[in-house]
Amino acid sequence: MPNLNQKKRILTGIRPTGALHLGHYVGALKNWLELQNKYDCYFLIADYQALGDHLHDIELIRESVLEVTLDWMAIGLDPNKSSFVIQSYVPEFAELSMLLSFITPIGMLERNPTLKSELESLPIERRSVGFYNYPMSQVADILLPRAHLVPVGEDQAPHIEMTREISRKFNRMFGYVFPEPETLIGKVGRLMGTDGKGKMSKSRGNVIMLSDDENTVNKKVKSMFTDPNRIRADIPGKIEGNPVFQYHDAFNTDLDQINHFKNRYQQGKIGDVEIKNALAESINKFLDPIRNRRKELKSNMPLVEDSLMSGINKTRNIASETMKMVREHMKIADYIKE
Ligand code: TRP
Repeated sequence: MPNLNQKKRILTGIRPTGALHLGHYVGALKNWLELQNKYDCYFLIADYQALGDHLHDIELIRESVLEVTLDWMAIGLDPNKSSFVIQSYVPEFAELSMLLSFITPIGMLERNPTLKSELESLPIERRSVGFYNYPMSQVADILLPRAHLVPVGEDQAPHIEMTREISRKFNRMFGYVFPEPETLIGKVGRLMGTDGKGKMSKSRGNVIMLSDDENTVNKKVKSMFTDPNRIRADIPGKIEGNPVFQYHDAFNTDLDQINHFKNRYQQGKIGDVEIKNALAESINKFLDPIRNRRKELKSNMPLVEDSLMSGINKTRNIASETMKMVREHMKIADYIKE
């Protein structure tokens, strides 16, 4: 019998701090949809990690766990192919994080550039030990299922580098348990906010949610930023850095139309309204099946919850396997003969 588990294992995750938006889709989910067909994927909802900057909004974390799951299933992540996991439902994530912290020099966290800049943006009284330690807990997220590959955005690369170092160190000190996971910075895109400033983020109010209805999409597209120097339709406009065209590239499937729009825009021969109407139409066409599927799922929450539970159970099995090996290798088990 062929062993289906010969597929390489992937773990990647998201913090449940709100439903998902087009930026998540372009920057990660679209890639995950392909990966689920090739690999044994674990998609983690990192609710513990979310406490780092949402301790005062645990209600949002609570709601978001199922919202994120709905979004995942609505776009086509398939719980029969992959495992969805809630971090807090598998206590071994925390246990492994604690054990690995003893082989992790403090300097590794001190030098982590992503952590450094995130800490600086938090007021001092919110810089908790838990937040400081989140890259460590992320190392455990990846190592617990003994993942081979971690598809993430560039900002997460230092955490994966740290994971590689820790896995090597553990294996060297105690014997082989962990594959050295590789970063998969795939061919993902990046979507700027509808205001053309930086990336889509809910706190900046420049997002289009996967769950937005048609009217909301129309409104948001209408108020999108374009080339700020183009104050009249007969002035030639710029394509680069222009969110309207970036979104066309991401969601309009009619390439001839996009090229036609771009040419006319650069010559000052088209108004924003025409381009935006076509964009709203493309986004709505893309979102329609997602919205329908989301609605269906929402009226069948037991199915969604079962999907989560089956991923959680699968992860619990691997987790207890890994922890058994870890304890045996570290020789911190079996003190008492029964
Ligand atoms: N830090 C990631 C984010 O904020 C989420 C995450 C948690 C993660 N654990 C992970 C990503 C493990 C990859 C692997 O997006």
